[in-house]
Amino acid sequence: MSGHVVIAVDGPAASGKGTLARRLAAELGYAYLDTGLLYRVVGLILIRQGLDPADENAAAEAAIVFDAATADFNDPALRDEETSKAAGIVAAFPAVRAALVDVQRRFAANPPGGAEGGAQGVARGAVLDGRDIGTVICPDADYKFFLEADIEERARRRVKELRDRGDTVILNLVLQEMKERDERDRTRAVAPLAPAADASVVNTTNLNADAAFALAMSLIR
Ligand code: CDP
Repeated sequence: MSGHVVIAVDGPAASGKGTLARRLAAELGYAYLDTGLLYRVVGLILIRQGLDPADENAAAEAAIVFDAATADFNDPALRDEETSKAAGIVAAFPAVRAALVDVQRRFAANPPGGAEGGAQGVARGAVLDGRDIGTVICPDADYKFFLEADIEERARRRVKELRDRGDTVILNLVLQEMKERDERDRTRAVAPLAPAADASVVNTTNLNADAAFALAMSLIR
């Protein structure tokens, strides 16, 4: 047993999982991994190579050669709607998911950094957010949260997020894209989006970020 804490935060797009996971990590001094970025990087590689994200062999190849140490997770294009869509498509391929398991489990087992870390360079815990952290990546996580919210509310949040960064977007198109991505995430054969049996399910439709954070902290404490 590694002796540190692992927190899994899963849920669909714009359910508030990233915001909650980041805040939990900051509050507790844990390392944070946004696992959606891994699938986004793979999707963006295909887009930039002019390849179809639905090309399973190309997606698998990109995931296999992916190196978390050299990837640019700050590339703004990772948050584009086109990349979101491509990420959802490549994430349904078993070979892509398989290629990205180790990097996630290594992070959970050996959370890097941490201001108040225990052993040098190792944080006291890890928070991972995604779709299958509590079910597949870290089934033994100490705490599991599954966030959800009505799709209209989630689409409004995503529109605000995109407009805040200067993108011109149309609510109905974002809603449509989100529905398609949700459907793909929930029905894929491998690691479909679903709450783990032992996850605390939190509906954030009428819960702001502070309230969701307070609720999660009360469950942890
Ligand atoms: O921020 P948002 O929830 O829209 O997306 P994300 O968490 O960055 O994930 C983008 C896409 O990657 C999702 O629609 C999933 O298809 C996929 N994903 C996944 O399959 N498993 C994960 N652990 C994380 C993301």
